[in-house]
Amino acid sequence: MKPKKWSVYITRRILDPAIPMISRECSVIVANHRGRPPTRNELLKAVRDKDAILCTLSDIIDAKVMDAAGSNLKVISSYSTGTDHIDIKEATKRGIFVTFTGDILTEATADLAFALILAISRQITQGHELVTLKRWKYGWDPHLLLGSDVHGMTIGIVGLGRIGSAVARRAKGFDMDVIYHNRHSRNIQMEEQFGAKHVDMDQLVEESDFLSLHCSLNSESYHLINESNLGRMKNDSYIINTARGQIINEAHLIKALKQRWIAGVGLDVFEKEPPSPNNPLLKMKNVVLLPHIGSATFLTRTKMAEVAAKNLLNVLNRKTAIYLANPEVNRG
Ligand code: DGY
Repeated sequence: MKPKKWSVYITRRILDPAIPMISRECSVIVANHRGRPPTRNELLKAVRDKDAILCTLSDIIDAKVMDAAGSNLKVISSYSTGTDHIDIKEATKRGIFVTFTGDILTEATADLAFALILAISRQITQGHELVTLKRWKYGWDPHLLLGSDVHGMTIGIVGLGRIGSAVARRAKGFDMDVIYHNRHSRNIQMEEQFGAKHVDMDQLVEESDFLSLHCSLNSESYHLINESNLGRMKNDSYIINTARGQIINEAHLIKALKQRWIAGVGLDVFEKEPPSPNNPLLKMKNVVLLPHIGSATFLTRTKMAEVAAKNLLNVLNRKTAIYLANPEVNRG
């Protein structure tokens, strides 16, 4: 058999068709650590002399990893839409292409944001527990698990981009008023089509009944939600985070929940994942917590796998990647 042209390291066993697709053209090593991501040392060792790395958001790909890979490295293909785990500037400097899975997960993530909105406001998890733990004693009860309305309320969206807009469309179906804040450019299409109203960040936190986060994580959005704006929120409002944990200062959030500045949170993401066992959020009642499953539908993860493989192979074959995070990169 002819030796394969390129050598690729894949940091997790991701869904088909990615691995068979890449294996047809490349010699592939798939990390095998019983479901956990590689440790830093395992990663540094495994990337040596690779032409391409297919990583997930659990892998920090910085200058040290690029150094360890060496000068063969041409592409870092992330099996994710967020690219905050990759030092893109450093990759660009070295002529390495960084690719991602674009808007494939948009609708699935918006669905999950809405699931959290409904779960936290209507006490879905408490209801489920009451029934399955056999603590539901007297049938229908006028006072049982009274929650908050969703329809007719105001949703405040931080980052009305692709996922934010998909959430806004769902919110319109629930007769909600949509207000939003974008740091850089307004979403005129959503304003015209869905009546979304652009407001400043202060007004957004003050007027939202549900504040849903959909911006990407970067130096501007790190700890964007903190003590000062949590203190301005309505006492009966909720925060939903399906974006990145570090957008919220978690210590401040815990304080806000304990002191009832807000009514509750629905979180799919955390500052540290998984959260440490003594994280106070784990014991709180006014929370719904999920293990970062925004994109976790079979179809979405399958499409993400296909796109991650195509991105990687396209770059190696000197074709255009489907989703490129650093279009300014120069092929040497
Ligand atoms: C992403 O892709 O960035 C999501 O957070 C996980 O699929």
